[in-house]
Amino acid sequence: WTAPAAALLIGYLLGSIPFGVILTRAFGAGDLRTIGSGNIGATNVLRTGRKGLAAATLLLDLAKGVVAVLAVRALLPGEEVLAAAAALIGHCYPVWLRFRGGKGVATLMGIALALHWPLGAVFALLWLGLLAATRISSLAGMIAAISTPVTAAMTDAFDLVPLLMALAGIVLWKHRENIGRLINGDEPRVGRRTGAPG
Ligand code: G3P
Repeated sequence: WTAPAAALLIGYLLGSIPFGVILTRAFGAGDLRTIGSGNIGATNVLRTGRKGLAAATLLLDLAKGVVAVLAVRALLPGEEVLAAAAALIGHCYPVWLRFRGGKGVATLMGIALALHWPLGAVFALLWLGLLAATRISSLAGMIAAISTPVTAAMTDAFDLVPLLMALAGIVLWKHRENIGRLINGDEPRVGRRTGAPG
């Protein structure tokens, strides 16, 4: 049982590093929890007006998903599915922020890339394409997340389908307030600094 436990711990500890909070604090961009949606992800960092910090948050939140899977694949082969699940849970429910974490889009993109690169490629294309077309980050992220089990099934990675369904489910659950705003037609678009609280 030590290998699965170690994989879970490595994944959770990496996933739970709140880069958005760390970077905005370190560079004097304010307290993310009081800005825009209050979320700790790159989309909300962008609402501070600091594009460089938002890009860094996106890349680092993605990188922790990649590193969690690749490190556990190297150290504890066969346990990377547990590490992937723990990394996403760590990002969404970090103990350091009283379990009030992010919505999982960037970290799931990294996990997808590292688990089976076509999943990450489809994710990135969908996310970027939908973001460019709609400028609604939450919508783009949710559709990209939902694509992962579909792409896995279409690329013979059937063993990953249950994991990816669960992870996409967490991403959707974390976006429940965004879904409400999308239904009401008041979800903010990126490029504007205001956002509904919550
Ligand atoms: O990755 C988070 C994004 O999908 C939504 O962020 O701040 O608009 O709720 P936000």
